[in-house]
Amino acid sequence: MKKLIAANWKMYKSSAEAHNCVATLLGFLGKKAPENKEILVFPPFTAIKAVSEVFAGGSGFFAGGQNFYPEPEGAFTGEIALGMLREAGASWVLAGHSERRSIFGESNELVGRKTAYAYEAGLGVVLCIGETLAQRENGELEQVLTAQLEAGMAGLPVELDGARLAVAYEPVWAIGTGKVAGTGEIAEAHNLVRKILGKISPRHGAELRILYGGSVKADNAGGIMAVDNVDGVLVGGASLDAEKFSKIALA
Ligand code: PGA
Repeated sequence: MKKLIAANWKMYKSSAEAHNCVATLLGFLGKKAPENKEILVFPPFTAIKAVSEVFAGGSGFFAGGQNFYPEPEGAFTGEIALGMLREAGASWVLAGHSERRSIFGESNELVGRKTAYAYEAGLGVVLCIGETLAQRENGELEQVLTAQLEAGMAGLPVELDGARLAVAYEPVWAIGTGKVAGTGEIAEAHNLVRKILGKISPRHGAELRILYGGSVKADNAGGIMAVDNVDGVLVGGASLDAEKFSKIALA
């Protein structure tokens, strides 16, 4: 399967800035995503349309939503429905990003409901997991990742379209801190995630893409993507700059 190179723009960029950024990105990469790669960009909601319109002129580029609420519509002030994201041009969503978990209190159970809901609706889902520094230091890595993956995937069907579900392993201590995990730590965690996926989904665990996220930059992306069981990257800060992100996509 193709590697997934994903940009999480968080709460950055107006729609004009987003338009310019992805137009510049296509200028660097050409109208086709690099060979054997798919490019996903998760802009703020208000910029999804601008991004998807530029991507419609290329191939292998997809826009996504950073968040949504797992109901078709209703009295959920401040939330957004998948139909609305789709209308803006989104074909992927993130679920369980550590900022959603820690700042907005999303539980493993809610992340699981969201993952199943978006998958059933036909979107691609990047299910994000990862341990805090305290959990790692307490020797809880396997326990935390197992709980996040079991709950996160609990509502998915047994027969999965593996192209529409990816897992992003993002150690919380490496997100936005400049502290990238070492390739040894990444290899160990990704092997562990692969093992847990195999138990949860004997049929599809081996094929699901596992992305690494946490301070990925142009100069470390190639080394990270060469690690066993790393099938792509989820990039925050460095994805806001088209030139830097294009280098990551080409790494
Ligand atoms: P970062 O963010 O690349 O800025 O560390 C990654 C993420 O939050 O997905």
